[in-house]
Amino acid sequence: MPRSELASFTDLSPAEDDFLGDVIAGLSASPKSLPCKYFYDERGSKLFEQICALPEYYPTRTETLLMREKAPEMAAAVGADALILEYGCGSIEKVRVLLDALDQPASYVAVDISREHLRAAAEVLAGDYPSVDVHAICADFSQPFEISANLPGRRKMAFFPGSTIGNFEPSEAKAFLTLIADHVGVGGGLLIGADRKKDEAILHAAYNDRAGVTAAFNLNLLSRMKNELDAIVDIDGFAHDARYNAVDGRIEMYLVSQSDQSINVGGRKFSFAAGETIHTENSHKYEIEEFQALGRAAGFEPKTVWSDQDDLFSVHYFEKNAD
Ligand code: AVJ
Repeated sequence: MPRSELASFTDLSPAEDDFLGDVIAGLSASPKSLPCKYFYDERGSKLFEQICALPEYYPTRTETLLMREKAPEMAAAVGADALILEYGCGSIEKVRVLLDALDQPASYVAVDISREHLRAAAEVLAGDYPSVDVHAICADFSQPFEISANLPGRRKMAFFPGSTIGNFEPSEAKAFLTLIADHVGVGGGLLIGADRKKDEAILHAAYNDRAGVTAAFNLNLLSRMKNELDAIVDIDGFAHDARYNAVDGRIEMYLVSQSDQSINVGGRKFSFAAGETIHTENSHKYEIEEFQALGRAAGFEPKTVWSDQDDLFSVHYFEKNAD
């Protein structure tokens, strides 16, 4: 793996996670809930990678195929000499197909909350794309932040793949797309992956896989509480469930208490009735027109949408309107 120097590394010192505080707040609430960001410790991230390879979990595979097939069209929409801005870039793999297709991309800016992973992944990318100016910004993208105005590149284009937007409530999604609109500026672009509404049976299978990987991913929240917070919790006393909520157009994941029991954590005792749930994730699904309306509400004009032949997943290209 060649590595090379980053053009810049900006540390916006995002606030550290307060896992204990968030657990106490979530289990004190009614109904009980936990933030889905806590899925992704080392074990959880590995389980998520396994989810992405499951036969029932169509989103990753469908989006990857779409990106491979349509990257030339996506690249043509953006044009030459672009600055690509990616939010929550993870291991910085998905953008490669785009960078490969683009006409002389000028720069790539990776934004992520995980400082050391970000630095390492961005350095690897910089080594592989010596003609691209690679910048990294350590930030929490759920909070507003600034992007330096004088980075090279004719048009700024944000890249937000993976249907990560599905974890936001629609109002939060609109606020986040508005922040992106501000970052890319008038004439700037947004390439974003969104999972589509579809037959409930397909959704149900994708989030309740037969091998039980999604169950392990969900239950990992309880393992983390045990390992990191010394919680007293019977992990086997909870079961994974994912349900489609047709009214809100989202998959909802729950941990379901299998009996009357309690979790002790942080000197507090949280009681559960049999069947009581902890709500751990929402994954919103969007019709193409619904997602275009969301983009419009954030100041973007829908330009192109790519989807697969089974109507499972969509990748949208928007451009920021004049104010
Ligand atoms: C990473 C938020 C896109 O919603 O499908 C996968 C997370 N949860 N299986 C999704 C997830 C359960 C995933 N996102």
